[in-house]
Amino acid sequence: MTVLQTGQGAVPAASNPVRMNKRLHMITWGCQMNVYDSLRMEDVLAPLGYAPTDTPDQADMVILNTCHIRDKAAEKVFSELGRLRLLKLEREAAGGKMILAVAGCVAQAEGAEILARAPYVDIVLGPQTYHRLPEMVAQAARAGGAVIETDFPAEQKFDFLPEASAAQGVTAFLTIQEGCDKFCSFCVVPYTRGAEASRPVVAVLAEASRLVAQGSREITLLGQNVNAWHGEAPDGSTWGLGQLLRELAAIPGLLRLRYTTSHPRDMDNDLIAAHGEIPALMPFLHLPVQSGSDRMLAAMNRKHTAADYLSVVGKLRASRPDMALSSDFIVGHPGETEADFEATLELIRQVKFAQAFSFKYSPRPGTPASGAPLQVPEAEKDRRLQVLQALLREQQAAFNAASEGLTLPILVTGPGRRPGQIGGRSPYLQPVHLIGPESLIGTEIPVRIVSGNASSLSGTLYQERASA
Ligand code: 5AD
Ligand code: SF4
Repeated sequence: MTVLQTGQGAVPAASNPVRMNKRLHMITWGCQMNVYDSLRMEDVLAPLGYAPTDTPDQADMVILNTCHIRDKAAEKVFSELGRLRLLKLEREAAGGKMILAVAGCVAQAEGAEILARAPYVDIVLGPQTYHRLPEMVAQAARAGGAVIETDFPAEQKFDFLPEASAAQGVTAFLTIQEGCDKFCSFCVVPYTRGAEASRPVVAVLAEASRLVAQGSREITLLGQNVNAWHGEAPDGSTWGLGQLLRELAAIPGLLRLRYTTSHPRDMDNDLIAAHGEIPALMPFLHLPVQSGSDRMLAAMNRKHTAADYLSVVGKLRASRPDMALSSDFIVGHPGETEADFEATLELIRQVKFAQAFSFKYSPRPGTPASGAPLQVPEAEKDRRLQVLQALLREQQAAFNAASEGLTLPILVTGPGRRPGQIGGRSPYLQPVHLIGPESLIGTEIPVRIVSGNASSLSGTLYQERASA
């Protein structure tokens, strides 16, 4: 799942006396946390006079916010850099300047390589150092040489970032946790994002209230390991995610809450209970399992079994009977046999997922699995992925078809693809299209679902029949 988004559109605070006379173009790859981080980089650069722009052509600064989770990421970054180099040269030939920065997980993992292969890059910065960006921009402008900042600083970046200023729209993201201490065999995150860290309760509540005041009606809490969040409360105690969700649900005007991405080991009983208690907490959870084989789960260092996962799913559904599940799967991890793969298919049949993401294992340099023996041949990985995805597609289609005839509360998020259409999301995160006025954007309305398609629903505005 690679998202390429451009121009996140931060709006400088009205009280900001700074002249916004420089242009910043942001290119963002990867997860929602990167999208959120890009907004924060825009915030941190606004006091220096940088306003976001949608194209790199006239930009004074271009930041590539990169993702390293699966392969080919670094190559995409280098080919984008090649294109930007030409623009930078053009700017310089015309007597101007363009600062080129590489941020995110590729910067963290391959900082030295970037400067060796693309010496025209001015700044390389890892995800933990965004609060130091203004300092680095000043340094790059002064010294003219490259600035590299990929340490894990002792301070937490969130304590040093300015307050988020950008409005995000009807649905908003809010990072509450970063980093991971789990060290799954295949994953770069513990190396690129560092150790687990949680934002304190007060900071999360303040940002959530601000988002709602700016018009957001749904907030998705983000973290690489979001349900490992344990934040300091004002009274000095430590809260878990269940307690935080209860508090957030009390913010007037906030209609929906979600959180992602969770680890099965951190689904504690209080969080599971919260799903039964909080109407605003949506009955949909992305809970990656990766494999259904205990042998593979052990090799992956997941520290849970298939039965543990099924037990968590059972408890969630006991707490909230309509709970819909999503997951991530990896096929072809080193050592995966046909029997292991079959066990994954069996787990999928038992859970019945509403949607899921699935990937071929790709060796990531520096992770334990990359050097492991018994790498699975590429053709076999391809075959397994096709079989797995066919089953997941079938389940998603069945889940969507089961919505036909139901009336679901839909949060309208924006105009639809066709004229006259509006679009939104069901509680189970299904995209829904219907004919309706744009004045409904930002409201939750009952929608009669007329058809459940492969990956979306279509419906009609529900009108109660006048009683006789
Ligand atoms: N190969 C394939 N998939 C991976 N993921 C993480 N690392 C790898 C890798 N080396 C997948 C996992 C994770 C998702 C975000 O990306 O399924 O949950
Ligand atoms: Fe990566 Fe998630 Fe495992 Fe952490 S728990 S190492 S982020 S796959």
